[in-house]
Amino acid sequence: MALILGIESSCDETAAAVVRDGCEVLSNVVATQHELHERYSGVVPEIASRAHLERILPVIKDCLDEASIRLDDVDAIAVGHEPGLIGSLLVGLGAAKALAWSTGLPLIGVNHVWAHLWSPCLEKHSIEFPALGLVASGGHTAIYLLESPTRMQVIGSTIDDAIGEAFDKAATILEAGYPGGPAIEALATVGDPEAMKLPVARLGETLDFSFSGLKTALLYGVRGRPEGRGRNVTYPRSISDLQQSQRADAAASFQKAAVTAIVRNLRRALERHEVRTLLAGGGVTANTSLRRGLVEVATAHSIELRLAEPAYCVDNAAMIAGLGDALHADGIRHGMDLAAAARVAH
Ligand code: KG4
Ligand code: ZN
Repeated sequence: MALILGIESSCDETAAAVVRDGCEVLSNVVATQHELHERYSGVVPEIASRAHLERILPVIKDCLDEASIRLDDVDAIAVGHEPGLIGSLLVGLGAAKALAWSTGLPLIGVNHVWAHLWSPCLEKHSIEFPALGLVASGGHTAIYLLESPTRMQVIGSTIDDAIGEAFDKAATILEAGYPGGPAIEALATVGDPEAMKLPVARLGETLDFSFSGLKTALLYGVRGRPEGRGRNVTYPRSISDLQQSQRADAAASFQKAAVTAIVRNLRRALERHEVRTLLAGGGVTANTSLRRGLVEVATAHSIELRLAEPAYCVDNAAMIAGLGDALHADGIRHGMDLAAAARVAH
């Protein structure tokens, strides 16, 4: 039996959690920074890292208190150290190292994207492998083939924007609100997904994705083709020329194209690889329309679908502690030279 403290600070959520045996979440504290970034319509790295600095120790203290344990009750400290915003990662990593050094507890570095694929395991029974894994988040969109929770390879990924980034940009174009994904989903519920024809990129026979053309097609569909260049670019229409129902139609059409891209590549992957389970995690997997698409794919291929609970789709530290537990069981330990990395080679 192992009790792991997880720490997460890769983007704009400062989070800490205590997880027993990889799955049982004793506490899961997330301090979101949405209110700090809203006026910029996106995460500002310098603001994010400063906010992490202010919040990290209170968040860790709250998570230990909520779990009714003391730091020396835990068996190891797991921290998301890659990939992410470098200044943000360094705050969580620094805190984890300081706690590990002062207590003598083992330190375990966890890949944030891999941890998203652990999130369907939280609070639930174990997973059957081999599995296909989808990570659809603000920073990543990739399909993995997993032999186990800690052994996997990427078989398809985005060549430009991540799907969550595309949702966020679509929300900016439609002035739908922040954070963009939930705002687009809410607007889409009253829209017609067939109203606007938007492209679903085809990248030959690969399992890769491209969302940047979809975002541009939405922009031109809503505001018309631009004239001029750079700072002098002008559009025939502005968003305020659209009625609310037309914005909803645009949101629904965008959501449908984005979900179709994911579903199509997962179908293709399942035709090529025999697996027992489809795992999905990352902020965009909270989207109801995508969740419905994943149910259809898994049903058509008669495999088990394991979706993260909505609270564990977005960034959290329970998934870091959970995967940290699997790494701890594999004997993985890191030293004080563990580095943060903004990017990770697949
Ligand atoms: O996993 P996450 O919290 O952070 C990253 O690792 O990137 O994902 C955040 C992303 C944002 O782009 C957000 O707009 C998107 O997930 N998102 C959604 C929904 N909830 C969050 N996208 C579509 N529909 C949602 N309901
Ligand atoms: Zn994430």
